[in-house]
Amino acid sequence: MKKKLKLAILFGGQSGEHEVSLMSATSVINNIDREKYSLYLIGITKSGKWMLYDGHPDNIEDGSWEKDGKPLIFPADPTYGGFFLLSDPHKVYKVDVIFPVMHGPHAEDGTIQGLFELANIPYVGCDVVASSTGMDKAISKSIFQCHNLPQAKYSVVLKRDYIRDREATLLDIEASFEYPVFIKPANLGSSVGISKCYDREQLARGLDEASKYDRKIIVEEFIDGYEIECAILGNNHPKASVLGKIIPCNDFYDYEAKYFGDGKSELIIPAPLTEEKSEEIRRIAIEAFKSLDCSGLARVDFFVHRKTGDVYLNELNTMPGFTKISMYPKLWEASGIPYSELMDELIDLALDRFNEKHHMEF
Ligand SMILES: Nc1ncnc2c1ncn2[C@@H]1O[C@H](COP(=O)(O)OP(=O)(O)O)[C@@H](O)[C@H]1O
Ligand SMILES: [Mg+2]
Repeated sequence: MKKKLKLAILFGGQSGEHEVSLMSATSVINNIDREKYSLYLIGITKSGKWMLYDGHPDNIEDGSWEKDGKPLIFPADPTYGGFFLLSDPHKVYKVDVIFPVMHGPHAEDGTIQGLFELANIPYVGCDVVASSTGMDKAISKSIFQCHNLPQAKYSVVLKRDYIRDREATLLDIEASFEYPVFIKPANLGSSVGISKCYDREQLARGLDEASKYDRKIIVEEFIDGYEIECAILGNNHPKASVLGKIIPCNDFYDYEAKYFGDGKSELIIPAPLTEEKSEEIRRIAIEAFKSLDCSGLARVDFFVHRKTGDVYLNELNTMPGFTKISMYPKLWEASGIPYSELMDELIDLALDRFNEKHHMEF
């Protein structure tokens, strides 16, 4: 029998999407083939403490795993090839591949990927550059623009400028955008800090809210569209899944609608679009993936205008949700790749990319 790969699944993290990660990771852990992988479950608390957890996966989602976690150090030093527990620094746990099932800053933005690079351990998903550009909506939008990919009109406001002169910022925005307008922190996800603003008072509140999370704020034209998502899988030759449509249960697909809407937000797979429209979206999704030089996986999100049918690229998520109701695994399932096979493919892609990189001369 083939030797089992030692897979470290990372969950939690310091971002505002800590709880989402707990849900995603639980799904991954429950669906991965234990015949092929021996798992190390590594949780990162909100304060950034890393711990090995060897209890039941059911205790991850509610955070109670933390009381049984054993503090560990995951060194950047590549000669370790893994981690050790603080209680026994002489015993090194070797790791063959890492799956960081975490979302948001310090998790999906290239920072932790940088640690894996230094430690010289293969990992699932995008590398440092793709993760950081994918996370930063201001940067990714400007790259999409360079590639002539269609997107909503937007501008970037610095928090510092807004704080210095609120009135001028509000007037500037009103001069360029019609209400309602979307306000988002540049670096986040799961709709945290995002507002749909219908008037000046809400705009000011939206800017205040987004300012809590980032020094850069995105102002964006409202697109009255259907929300369509496409899953991408691959490295150099990525493939696109069938498309999914989301019908949010709230005014927009906010945090509550995403995770706690009691299933009232609907996912429709495949999305009811013409073959031609679907092909157009899949093609743009692959172009977006390549434009940021992504690898492994990404979920690319769109709006399709209700009246004109025009397609707008909204964003690219380098570590999409993996909860049992998440679009990414569902789209692959509908495209013929069941959840546990998807895990295998992601891990193979991680190893492939690592090997490709390590056959270069430096
Ligand atoms: N320009 C827009 N027009 C219409 N709805 C939008 C727009 N931007 C965001 N939204 C709504 O807000 C949600 C979250 O915005 P998004 O940019 O996807 O941020 P996040 O990274 O947090 O998912 C979207 O799924 C959509 O429902
Ligand atoms: Mg989104």
